[in-house]
Amino acid sequence: MNSSLLPTLEIHSGEGNLDQLHEAICRTAHKPLAEARALPAAAFTDPSHFNWEREHILRRQWLSVAHLSQLRNTGDFVNLELLGERISVVNSGDGGIKVLSRVCAHRGMDVMPPEFGHEQQGNCSQYRCPYHHWVYGLDGNIKGAPFMKTHPEVAQKSLRLHEFNSTVWQGLVLVNFSGDAAPASTLFGGLDEHLQRWHMEELTMVADIAWDCPFNWKVLVENFMEPYHHAGAHHTLFQPIMPAQGCWTDTEGEHFQVCHLPLADALQDKVKQGEPQLLSFRPMPGLQRSDFLEWTVYLAAPATLLFVAADRVYWYRLQPLAADRMQIRTTMLVHPDAAGADNYPQVLADEIELMRKFHLEDMEMCGAVQSGLASSTYRPGPLNELEQPIWLFQRYLARQIQQQSARRNAGANG
Ligand code: FES
Ligand SMILES: [Fe+2]
Repeated sequence: MNSSLLPTLEIHSGEGNLDQLHEAICRTAHKPLAEARALPAAAFTDPSHFNWEREHILRRQWLSVAHLSQLRNTGDFVNLELLGERISVVNSGDGGIKVLSRVCAHRGMDVMPPEFGHEQQGNCSQYRCPYHHWVYGLDGNIKGAPFMKTHPEVAQKSLRLHEFNSTVWQGLVLVNFSGDAAPASTLFGGLDEHLQRWHMEELTMVADIAWDCPFNWKVLVENFMEPYHHAGAHHTLFQPIMPAQGCWTDTEGEHFQVCHLPLADALQDKVKQGEPQLLSFRPMPGLQRSDFLEWTVYLAAPATLLFVAADRVYWYRLQPLAADRMQIRTTMLVHPDAAGADNYPQVLADEIELMRKFHLEDMEMCGAVQSGLASSTYRPGPLNELEQPIWLFQRYLARQIQQQSARRNAGANG
């Protein structure tokens, strides 16, 4: 374990409960794994802490908003609301992929309001604001405004839809609202060696299911990353094929983590005898033999979640809304040639059903956990070593708290 990843506990008090909560999170995160416990309830329920996370973690880091297969052609867009920003992820043609604010430069109207029936995904040649019909190109620059052709800001085209800092990593479009995140290739580079064998930029999204979630975003991150619950929530779906007790967590990364879910021994034996197991789709070309022996879950912190198998990748898009609410999309990506198989339509339907089913099991657990966190009887319980990803995530959160504290102190002293 890299001890340099441990923040010091120096949190300056003075802002009441939030500082106390942050001290408690750091105290919990600093326990050795053998003494690890769940976080205090307020970490998941307190609106002021959620607001803090939104400003100091979620808006400062990279969040995944689209997959390249949704944006293959010029004008393809994916619209969503994220952390209070209405955005359009768009293939602007020569300008590449952009993440634009949909807030009109005139009086702030959403240029593609879902309330007016605008689709969340599609293709467009330009953005035309419904209010006064100002028009913007796919690059976000203004193209025209009725009866204002000679206005200097229109004539000189100095008005535009704001463009947020974005990048593409492993086929995913990432956005960073604060504009100053370190390069994603640096932060998540430790994942590339394994993930690059999947060539995620070439995959096709074949399922995309929207969920309204009555729980904190971190409840889902914890649920997604820890395999301990295979023995409980997924005891029929996953435990027989990826038993909890065989799972293990990789070395700590400062901005990522990896948990390995090896197949059950009998399945591994068959793989080793040349009979790949659990493959419904055409496997990714270029994988190593070991890639067929396990499924793997990844967190590119704070909230990009990937569940990877030899023949598919599940990518979850998270949109935290409040301390106890978020929306997510659960998506499935497969190799583009997978559709060539004879029985593909039926296989795909079955796999979408499976994906819905296992996520429903998680949804039920996460919703009921959030209710428990809001109860007066909740006390943080001890973690099993199979919940090491939760402990690592606590350490990530503690580092963010410590770094914000350092920035605040530097600001106060400077
Ligand atoms: S607010 Fe968009 S054109 Fe007026
Ligand atoms: Fe699960």
